[in-house]
Amino acid sequence: MNFGTFGPSTCTVLAAEQRVRRAMNEDFSRFFEAHLDAGSVRKRLNAVAGFLDAAVDDIVWLSGTTEAMNVVARGLALPPGAEILTHDHEHPAGVYPWLYRAQHGDVSVRQLHYPTGSGTAEEVLQFFTDSIGPATRVLSFSHVNYTDGSVLPVAAICRMACERGVITVVDGAQAPGMLRVSVRDLGCDIYATSLHKWTSGIYGSGALFVRPQLRDKLDPLIVETFHGFSEKTRFGERSAPADLDFRREWPCAMRRMSGLFTYAGPQLAGTLAAINEFETVGLEVVERETGRLGDRLREGLQSIAGITLHTPAAMAAGITSFEVAGLDPSQVARRLREDINVVGRVIDHSPVGFKAIRLCTHVFNTENIVDRVLERVESLV
Ligand SMILES: Cc1ncc(COP(=O)(O)O)c(C=O)c1O
Repeated sequence: MNFGTFGPSTCTVLAAEQRVRRAMNEDFSRFFEAHLDAGSVRKRLNAVAGFLDAAVDDIVWLSGTTEAMNVVARGLALPPGAEILTHDHEHPAGVYPWLYRAQHGDVSVRQLHYPTGSGTAEEVLQFFTDSIGPATRVLSFSHVNYTDGSVLPVAAICRMACERGVITVVDGAQAPGMLRVSVRDLGCDIYATSLHKWTSGIYGSGALFVRPQLRDKLDPLIVETFHGFSEKTRFGERSAPADLDFRREWPCAMRRMSGLFTYAGPQLAGTLAAINEFETVGLEVVERETGRLGDRLREGLQSIAGITLHTPAAMAAGITSFEVAGLDPSQVARRLREDINVVGRVIDHSPVGFKAIRLCTHVFNTENIVDRVLERVESLV
């Protein structure tokens, strides 16, 4: 029950990855031509874009949220003195890239103390609204907190930020595969995500959505064949065959921001198979099941004396975080793993008063396993 960290892939997904990896090894040149030609890149990325309800031109294929957040924090053009607003329940990948940028002097980062225990979306919206200051240019926050599992009111926060001229950067690592995600409906400027967690794609799979108006404000981290250079820039005057520029027809954001796509074929093939599996089951079914099993777990935990539940019921979905009185969360994690073979994760933000065991309920889990967790936790109290 640790899909929030890594989601193991099904055999079908692994076989799809393996087929492409084999083709890549058998004849790389042929693979390269088939894999990287504009039409097939567009077609495959279209499936990723569709999963996030984005336009294909606005999507970049990357290795996960950490890479995507680095692309954004390192590359986003901001006026000198700009303030990045974030909070202390963000994942390191949502904070360190901004802190690194701030070390170089042109921006500052203000980390708010997230109001854990906020029971409602309205309270969280109010918290962000009250926190925006005159220098705030970016609001960087998660769609689903990896700590307490709260699903944030992203659309309302983005609307509020947009009215104040603040760019919204959403860390969506925990959402796709647990919730139906529509970046269109969320209205965010940037959405960084992982496809190897709840979506159970191949490890090293993720995507970045960038609103077209910001595309040119994001400097690429890795510069390669394209990026506005021409054959003339490199070799001087000479006529070069037009088809040398294999990226010309790639989706726009890919052209600017994807440096290492050449080697991503196997990951992409496997992850597309995972997306296909989810879409076959139905994203609404997945969302309903993750929430239903989560509710069963949370209701069960609430009925056990000595449990502190950190996940607010009104903002909950597939993540449940809790503590058992008198036990360190790592002891609870060890008991669940060794006694009933359930893997959870300890989330330790002790310096700001949060340490809990986190369990993820997914469509792959059953009521039976949730009930076994409840029995074992009750016996620990
Ligand atoms: C909220 C959040 N952001 C970012 C990450 C890092 O994601 P990735 O492993 O795809 O780089 C995680 C991983 O757990 C996360 O929970």
